[in-house]
Amino acid sequence: MKIKEIIKNNKKWVESKLELDKDYFTNLAKGQSPSILYIGCSDSRVTAEEMMGVGPGEAFVHRNIANLVPNTDLSAMSVITYALEHLKVNDIIICGHYGCGGVKAAMQSADLGILNPWLRNIRDVYRLHSDELMAIENEEERYKRLIELNVVEQCINVIKTSSIQKANRERKIKVHGWVFDLSSGQIIDLEINFDKILANIMEIYHLD
Ligand code: CO
Repeated sequence: MKIKEIIKNNKKWVESKLELDKDYFTNLAKGQSPSILYIGCSDSRVTAEEMMGVGPGEAFVHRNIANLVPNTDLSAMSVITYALEHLKVNDIIICGHYGCGGVKAAMQSADLGILNPWLRNIRDVYRLHSDELMAIENEEERYKRLIELNVVEQCINVIKTSSIQKANRERKIKVHGWVFDLSSGQIIDLEINFDKILANIMEIYHLD
């Protein structure tokens, strides 16, 4: 896609929005009050808003390679804190996807420079679940399972933050672990048990 095309597309998009509602952008500029925080992969095929059918203003979105939530990542931590404490979102979605290049890279032994410490987070997920993963003989199946387990672990990383523990005392917060299946377009809900995970980790990760 050429950049010139994109600018043209934008003009068409503005016109189409104004045709339906002449105050569309005036209203959009007034502010945002999304009820969900979506954390997903940067993969160009996993279009957060489009696949969820949500419009501008409805989802607060954070994307990075392999949808990771490392506790030392200032960007991810700021997004979570802002979404919970200021935007007051009630639902947090971590969405991975089958065919994730980041997860694939972490399964191989290659020196990828600055990507090494980032992908280390996925290798840690592998180590944590090595018994289960090593027992899967089919490599494609093992790859898929690591993608799912990575989502679960990132959900746990969200639950470990003080922002969510604090917010959950004021109102009911839900964390959803999803995997997007590129080959069918479907979202698969891993149905993580937020309350059970919270109860299990609180002994160690209770923050206040
Ligand atoms: Co990916």
